[in-house]
Amino acid sequence: MTDQALSAHQTVPSKPTSASRTTLSHIMTAHDTNLLGTVHGGVIMKLVDDAAGAVAGRHSGGPAVTASMDEMVFLEPVRVGDLVHVRAQVNWTGRSSMEVGVRVMAERWNESTPATQVGSAYLVFAAVDAEGKPRPVPQVVPGTERDKRRYQEAQIRRTHRLARRRAIKELRDKRAAEGIGD
Ligand SMILES: CC(C)(COP(=O)(O)OP(=O)(O)OC[C@H]1O[C@@H](n2cnc3c(N)ncnc32)[C@H](O)[C@@H]1OP(=O)(O)O)[C@@H](O)C(=O)NCCC(=O)NCCS
Repeated sequence: MTDQALSAHQTVPSKPTSASRTTLSHIMTAHDTNLLGTVHGGVIMKLVDDAAGAVAGRHSGGPAVTASMDEMVFLEPVRVGDLVHVRAQVNWTGRSSMEVGVRVMAERWNESTPATQVGSAYLVFAAVDAEGKPRPVPQVVPGTERDKRRYQEAQIRRTHRLARRRAIKELRDKRAAEGIGD
């Protein structure tokens, strides 16, 4: 990020978690199935990315792109006729990046039984300007104790992502320096 963008970062007003929290709901149909007859994981991942993208755009007040998606967990199969609710919120913000946490719930479309959790994921979005360059984001202010816990957990994931990336780069650089190919 440029020095100009960094100084702008300090003046972008912060926003509460609740300002951008969003739920996207969708009924699963026969078009969404895999060869086993249950809903394709990629269909759920698309909904997760859509909901997280809406949250990142709302929080940052403009375009934001998916930088990474990790810890996508599928807990239960999703079936045709399930009404799927994808709940997303900004867990943490850096300078230009935001971690968005997503919880996927499902309930039968025509029954009044409670929805159960079928999946979850964490995505990192980068807010970008018209040239696609990272731009500063408002700092997120966690409102509830749950939001505060999610903020702290997101910081742990951020530390691990950076450490993993650094360690892999160091290993590759070392192998390259030793003349070892892929
Ligand atoms: C994401 C992107 C904007 C980052 O650009 P960059 O030039 O590497 O910029 P930076 O290194 O300054 O990274 C910007 C921020 O994103 C974060 N980031 C970048 N890559 C990341 C990754 N793989 N995982 C997690 N965070 C990442 C950085 O930590 C930084 O956060 P911070 O500003 O809060 O400290 C750029 O790689 C891009 O445009 N990727 C394609 C995005 C896209 O098209 N997504 C849709 C896929 S179909």
